[in-house]
Amino acid sequence: MRLILLGPPGSGKGTQAARIVEKYGIVQLSTGEMLRAAGAAGTEVGLTAKKLMDRGELVPDDIVMGIISERIDESDCANGFLLDGFPRTLGQAEAFEKLLEDKGLSLSVVILLEVADEVLLSRIENRRRETGGARSDDNAETLKKRLIVYHDQTKPLIGFYKERGLLKSIDGMQAVEKVGADVDAYMAEAK
Ligand code: AP5
Repeated sequence: MRLILLGPPGSGKGTQAARIVEKYGIVQLSTGEMLRAAGAAGTEVGLTAKKLMDRGELVPDDIVMGIISERIDESDCANGFLLDGFPRTLGQAEAFEKLLEDKGLSLSVVILLEVADEVLLSRIENRRRETGGARSDDNAETLKKRLIVYHDQTKPLIGFYKERGLLKSIDGMQAVEKVGADVDAYMAEAK
C-alpha cells in the first residue's frame, strides 16, 4: 500500500498517520519531520529549510525530492509507505509520479482531510499551548502564511489526483476516531 495524506496545516495528517502506522504497520514518511530533524542536526540543508519553515514558506522542490527519493529506496519502504505532507506542489506531484513510474510502482490512494481555515487556527493554537511552542512555525502569523501557501500551491493537487481517480475526501472536522474509521474504509477499498 502506498498512500498520501493530503490536507492543510493542522488538518490531522500527523494524527491519522500515527494511527495508520500503529494499525497497519506501514512506514510513515513525513517531509516536515525529516526537515525538522535536519534543522535540529544543523546540516546545511536543514538550516536552509528551517529559515523557510519558520516563515511558513515551502522548502524548494529539489531539496524535498532528493530527501524522498533516497528514503523510499530504503528497505523498510519495500512493502509500502504513507506520505504525510508530501507532495505539496504540482512540481513535486509530477516528479514523484515519474519517480514511481521509473521504479515500476504506483500509488494506492490519496486521502484528503478537509477542514475549514478557522478550525485550523484554533487547533494550531491549542497545539502551541499543549506543547509549549515546540514547533517554531506554530503561531498565528506563520499559520496564516502556511494557509496561503496551501491554497495557492498545494490545493491544485486535489484536481491532479482526482483526474487520476485516486482522490478520496474525508470531513476532517469530525472526531479523530470517526476520521480514522473513514480512513479505514478507504484503505480497505484501495489496492
Ligand atoms: P509539516 O510538518 O508537514 O506540517 P503541516 O502540513 O503544516 O501540518 P501540521 O503538522 O501542522 O498538521 P497536521 O495536518 O499533521 O495535523 P496534526 O495531526 O498535527 O510541514 C511544516 C513545514 O515544513 C511546511 O510549512 C514547509 O515549510 C515544510 N515542508 C514540509 N513538507 C514539505 C514539502 N513536501 N515541500 C516543501 N516544504 C515542505 O493535528 C493538528 C492538531 O489538531 C493537533 O493538536 C491534533 O491533536 C489536533 N487534531 C487532529 N485531528 C483532530 C480532529 N479530528 N479533531 C480535533 N482535533 C484534531
